[in-house]
Amino acid sequence: MDSTTADIESRRRAATQSLDANHRSQFGQYFTPAPVAQFMASLIKRPRGGKHLSILDPGAGIGSLSAALLSRLKGRGDVTAYEFDHAFQSGLKETLSAHPGKHVILQRDFIEEAVLDVATGKAEGGRFDAVILNPPYKKINTDSKHRLLLRKLGLETSNLYTCFLACSIALCKPGAQVVAIIPRSWMNGLYFLPFRHWLLRHAAVTHIHLFDSRDRAFKDDGVLQENVIVRLVVGGSQDSVEVSSSRDQTFADLKRQAVPFSAVVTPGDEQMFVHVPSPGTASTEGLPGRPLREIGLDVCTGPVVDFRLRDYLRPEPCDGSVPLLYSTHFNGHFEWPRPSRKPNAIMVNENTRGWLMPAGCYVVLRRFTSKEETRRVVAYLLNDNALPGSLVGFENHLNVIHQDRHGLDPKVARGIAAYLNSQAVDDYFRTFSGHTQVNATDLRRLRYPTIAELRKLGDQLEEEGRRGTPDSGRSRNAKGAAERAIRSVSPRNL
Ligand SMILES: C[S@@+](CC[C@H](N)C(=O)[O-])C[C@H]1O[C@@H](n2cnc3c(N)ncnc32)[C@H](O)[C@@H]1O
Repeated sequence: MDSTTADIESRRRAATQSLDANHRSQFGQYFTPAPVAQFMASLIKRPRGGKHLSILDPGAGIGSLSAALLSRLKGRGDVTAYEFDHAFQSGLKETLSAHPGKHVILQRDFIEEAVLDVATGKAEGGRFDAVILNPPYKKINTDSKHRLLLRKLGLETSNLYTCFLACSIALCKPGAQVVAIIPRSWMNGLYFLPFRHWLLRHAAVTHIHLFDSRDRAFKDDGVLQENVIVRLVVGGSQDSVEVSSSRDQTFADLKRQAVPFSAVVTPGDEQMFVHVPSPGTASTEGLPGRPLREIGLDVCTGPVVDFRLRDYLRPEPCDGSVPLLYSTHFNGHFEWPRPSRKPNAIMVNENTRGWLMPAGCYVVLRRFTSKEETRRVVAYLLNDNALPGSLVGFENHLNVIHQDRHGLDPKVARGIAAYLNSQAVDDYFRTFSGHTQVNATDLRRLRYPTIAELRKLGDQLEEEGRRGTPDSGRSRNAKGAAERAIRSVSPRNL
């Protein structure tokens, strides 16, 4: 580490220690460590022909990001830094003054000023060639000042970090480069849909970096947020996207790969989920096939909400009851009845019947996997002869794949379970889901082989099962056989 970087790092630690925890979380004051700042700066291309870059650093803290970029540009950059907290002004000034150039520090509210500049035409044609930012993140209420301001830019958004990113883009010249470290939350979910629309209309995504371990980017600050680094080109035309990943902020094991934009945002996806395929895995090519409903199947969360039907739950099966299945019955393998604190049965009567499903063959997935589990997507095959009775209750923490609320063709079900348990699906799932939940919507949107291919896959697995180990779809043999069979039905993509 050179002496200037060492100075900034000690200033960063001192600034962090001086902060009151509440104040810090209210204003999102988590500073970027030098290696992350240097990596971010390395994503900004140097200008040709001795040109100077006009740089924006909104929410600059003590200026770690500007410093990394100015070092990379060897003095060919002028920074405009916004930082409204008085506490960081002298540190910021010290950091910037170590670099040649015309630097301006504005102790103002960045969002207010940016929206005003756009509204008054001051930002017409754009003011900046490059932006480097680590914005504050905090949820904002519907009637908050910042949210109302952002509506003036045509954006409805619920977090401060998306406000910062949108305002930065609004102040840029066409072709400007924007590099930001932000939470991963904007990439999926309904709340951020307007932001995804806005962003992809105003900029092209050219690079996405993911940290494999969620606490690694801001290790010193104990931030548990999953962060991504994105590089955007304002008004750029969307081409392929460079994806990279590293375990942590040392970037020692950096992997990178260019992928087509269609592997990042699926063409025709109205939700515009942004996937981050892992470099070097099959997920970079996307999955084959069609969404679940298009192959005539569907998925629901288990209809039984147990506390609403408490009076009818039974610890053990008894006369007049049918099996009730919880996540605990799908723990490594399927087991029912299972001695545990959870009931094993539910009485059938006029209050419960509407929440029960006909007995049959289903594919069942837990909605919440634990952090320790190596796989996100774990599918269980529930055979039609696995349970007594003509009805079955699925508790609400399960996802159930069905056909018109009835069981599936057993061979198709076996094929689906194997397909969902394949490495390719797990890799793909991780590209858009940073958390441990498996939502019915995600399973519905996933792409599946055709029913004929799934049946063929189920058939091959049954055949393998007859020849070797009987399979529940979860044993190592069964998985090996599944991967082989999946490759045989979809040789191009898996
Ligand atoms: C996450 S910190 C990042 C600091 C610095 N960019 C870095 O990477 O180390 C965000 C900074 O934005 C500042 N900030 C928060 N809201 C702001 C606003 N509306 N206008 C200007 N600065 C703001 C905070 O005081 C904080 O220093």
